[in-house]
Amino acid sequence: MPPSDRIAQLVEQLNEHNYRYAVLNDPVISDRAYDALMRELSDLEARHPDLIQPDSPTQRVTSDLTLQFPTVQHDVPMLSLDNTYSEDELRDFEDRIRRELPDEELQYVAELKIDGVALSLIYENGLLTRGVTRGNGTQGEDITPNVKTIKSIPIRLKACAESMSANDSIGEGLFSNPVPYCEIRGEVYLDHNTFDAINVQREKNEENPFANPRNATSGSLKLQDAQQVAERRLSFFAYSFRSPSMQLSTHGENLSYLERLGLPVNTNRALCNNIDDIIAQAREWEEERQKLEYDIDGIVIKVNNIAQQNKLGATSKSPRWAISYKYSAEQAETVLESITLQVGRTGVVTPVANLEPVQLAGTTVSRATLHNAEELERKDIREGDTVILEKGGDVIPKVVRVVKPKRAKDAIAFVFPENCPVCNAPLTKDESEVAIRCDNSQCPAQLKGNIRHFASRTAMDIEGLGTVLVEQLVDNELVRDVGDLYNLKLDALADLERMAEKSAQNVLDALDASKTRPFHLVLFALGIRHIGATVARTLSDNFHSIDRLRDTPPEEIEAVHEIGAAIAESIHTYLNIDSNWTIIEKLRAAGIALASEAPADTGPKPLEDKTVVVTGTFTRWGRQQAQDLIRALGGKPTSSVSGKTDLVIAGEKAGSKRTKAEQLGIDILDEESFVKLIGEENAS
Ligand code: IVH
Repeated sequence: MPPSDRIAQLVEQLNEHNYRYAVLNDPVISDRAYDALMRELSDLEARHPDLIQPDSPTQRVTSDLTLQFPTVQHDVPMLSLDNTYSEDELRDFEDRIRRELPDEELQYVAELKIDGVALSLIYENGLLTRGVTRGNGTQGEDITPNVKTIKSIPIRLKACAESMSANDSIGEGLFSNPVPYCEIRGEVYLDHNTFDAINVQREKNEENPFANPRNATSGSLKLQDAQQVAERRLSFFAYSFRSPSMQLSTHGENLSYLERLGLPVNTNRALCNNIDDIIAQAREWEEERQKLEYDIDGIVIKVNNIAQQNKLGATSKSPRWAISYKYSAEQAETVLESITLQVGRTGVVTPVANLEPVQLAGTTVSRATLHNAEELERKDIREGDTVILEKGGDVIPKVVRVVKPKRAKDAIAFVFPENCPVCNAPLTKDESEVAIRCDNSQCPAQLKGNIRHFASRTAMDIEGLGTVLVEQLVDNELVRDVGDLYNLKLDALADLERMAEKSAQNVLDALDASKTRPFHLVLFALGIRHIGATVARTLSDNFHSIDRLRDTPPEEIEAVHEIGAAIAESIHTYLNIDSNWTIIEKLRAAGIALASEAPADTGPKPLEDKTVVVTGTFTRWGRQQAQDLIRALGGKPTSSVSGKTDLVIAGEKAGSKRTKAEQLGIDILDEESFVKLIGEENAS
């Protein structure tokens, strides 16, 4: 068989298997067999790149380094829904519709309101050409490469042999000739299992867990690396279809049609003839939602007939033919077994409730934050109480209230201790804040938190220096501050429990490797109050060295754009405390960068004051590196091409930005000419 035919065959087979797996949940081949077909296809494509089909499953993940998100106009605005919170309000909605359309027979579709992120998909001649976020409703962000990683979203629509409506010719024609243009809208979401797995991984990497599946979904869709988006395993439910050449008469028909096109449509939907049917659905799903594998925050009721929808029209914000009925946050009842106190990196002492494990909104909950002493007192929460938990916007659920009738007679009020539960130093409370703190900077709890932060992926990225090892290092007094990390000896490390010589050496190697981290990361890693990663970068860009920062008065630091008084005060105070400076000297002795790279300070600055846009891919650098380089050479990297752009550096596969630069007559350099401009010695 000629390669072109085999490629076509594989593409078709793999897309079908993917559909069965991701949409129908009914795979007919094993993962291994799927992978083998995939490998055969990518091998063939590697040998015949000219035969790669646009709907090939290998095209789902592209590694476009310069992925940024252009804004695009929606064909039809993406409106939101009016919300109702009570059955009475639902009745009002139905009354309004009946008043608007007297004497007409009415039907409604009740469907689940998936708690995810809205997405618009454009298909041209059956092929997915665009995936756009809701944005502000009128304009959204074009995130097509990320959307292509969502396996349940077909890259090519399935052919529909049969007609959906009375108009037979439309359906028949579609078999060989898909609708030239259609827009499909729906919700991207994460199911509970995938969400939990992502958060477990994040905790391992010492990254903050996502608060809820919706946040995780929107964060994932905005990632700049499509490969990473693919790893998030996002899902999708379609809920609307619109095409100028295929107009069906009801919403229900549209949904069935979407299923035939190969899209996942939620099957939990019902046709309702009157308000009683609607209310029955609302009640049923309020009960049943506990059993779903994904979050819903209500149900949506839509007038079924499209002609009637058009008559009802829309306000500027929402359609008059649809409404959402929102459920309140899920609650559960359980026993609070004990209250413990946690001391964080900054010394704040937080009371935590240890609970009898209970199921809540798809996960098992055994701990809840009690926030602070005031909250404990206000809610009068005591050990042994039966409490009501609620999952709001956070991963950690909160205790809403105590079920007082179930309280034991001898339950005693919780007394907040006067001393730190870890180091016994007196606790203090600043009148201006609710937090109670341990002010002892040597407190082992704070020290452990500080070291974990210092070593975390986004700071010094010291692999192998995880929670357990940090505990051991501090408890055995091998490390009294982060500076001591660089004096650790192989023997001492290898002597620790469960630490073999090999892993001890790995930790030392990782510590060694961390010595190359740039100054702005070191500054962030120190864990100074108010100094996040972005602020650290700004400080590094403006002051270039820790010594200069120490000697700069707070007013001067504050004069920098985006630096406020609290930040300026915090950095100045921290650097002028002797014990902190001792740590910095230890880091200096270890060879840690305490100033920004030399070229920025002393070297030539061929890009001085130039606004530069990087687009496409390069052989020498990733996008971030290219931007760092531009900064180091005195330039200002920005993401979009405009009249203010001085220079565009266009790598391989540069697209619309290059075209725009050409139109505007802006200088464009390819990788080689750019290297010539800045000099080979500056190029790496
Ligand atoms: S219909 C004109 N149906 O809820 C509004 N929306 O504010 C069209 N959503 O952002 C939306 N599940 O992303 C519709 N079955 C469903 C939905 C749904 C979730 C989201 C949607 C929108 C928000 C409504």
